[in-house]
Amino acid sequence: MKSEILALLKKYQPEYISGEEVSNSLQVSRTAIWKHIQALREDGYEIESQPRTGYRLTKIPDLLYPQEIKNKLATKYVGQQIHFFKTINSTNIMAKELANHGAVNGTIVVTEKQEQGRGRLGRQWISPQGKGIWFSLILTPEISPTEAPKYTILAGVAVAKVINRYIGIKTGIKWPNDILVNEKKVCGILTEMNAEIDKVNYIIVGIGINVNINKSSFPAEIKDIATSLSAESGHKVDRVGLLQEILGELEQLNEQFINGNFNNILAQWRQLSVTINKPVTITMLKEQFTGIAVDIEQDGSLVIQKENGQKTKVFSGEVTLAKKK
Ligand code: BTN
Repeated sequence: MKSEILALLKKYQPEYISGEEVSNSLQVSRTAIWKHIQALREDGYEIESQPRTGYRLTKIPDLLYPQEIKNKLATKYVGQQIHFFKTINSTNIMAKELANHGAVNGTIVVTEKQEQGRGRLGRQWISPQGKGIWFSLILTPEISPTEAPKYTILAGVAVAKVINRYIGIKTGIKWPNDILVNEKKVCGILTEMNAEIDKVNYIIVGIGINVNINKSSFPAEIKDIATSLSAESGHKVDRVGLLQEILGELEQLNEQFINGNFNNILAQWRQLSVTINKPVTITMLKEQFTGIAVDIEQDGSLVIQKENGQKTKVFSGEVTLAKKK
């Protein structure tokens, strides 16, 4: 009922809607309407009330509420089930728990703040309150575990494409999953899976985007390598709108993937890549080497041509691009 009242207030915005009209269209008592209006105010919606005139919505909070995300969301299943938390340890951890309890394909977990945001290679992911999009998508494709890394590729393409078109700033993808703007990282992707030997039970695609973080708020250890969309575009970014676009793109690319068109996604990745044809240093657990990144393979690995001409496939590790002179 609360979200139906909100939908009515939005429909009439910026005008007033009378209590009587709300009551008639939703078949609910005036006292119940008042209670729901109070609850909406507690959620951060600003609603004016005038005796004999009714209610008027004057401000929507800048929060990633499910009812805001689902409003006009143009997807069939991605983001149609949303679990929202004001604060959480990590959306990936929660997504795994939900997936273990049967969450449906396309469910997302979204939060305003992560207290133990997780990055690749056991790193921490800084996720300040209200400043980013920190979310995890649960997918249950019928694929073998060897295909799971394709979801990192797919998600990178989705985010980079949307930032290019929605914010209008040029992004690039650094293998395997960093989304860069002006050579600094704005987004990271952590893909995890639960699988048997030959069958994936579920995939969790965790996406963290630095949206409205001031440059000066980045901790010293990452301030030279990280940035945010607002810092690079010079304006505050609408997080709900951006997330809706990303969910739409993720669904479209997922459909392409399950219909056997992964090559098309790879082609887009190559276009968006800042790694291909560049001199790189690869740092792995026990080894470091340099070469030219020449291609990405179907299995998500990066092909490096070493100085002696020999080609080698890299499945995990850290890529450092040679600095521009
Ligand atoms: C990286 O190291 O680049 C990957 C960072 C992934 C961060 C996101 S934020 C939402 C989701 N929950 C997590 O704990 N991590 C991912």
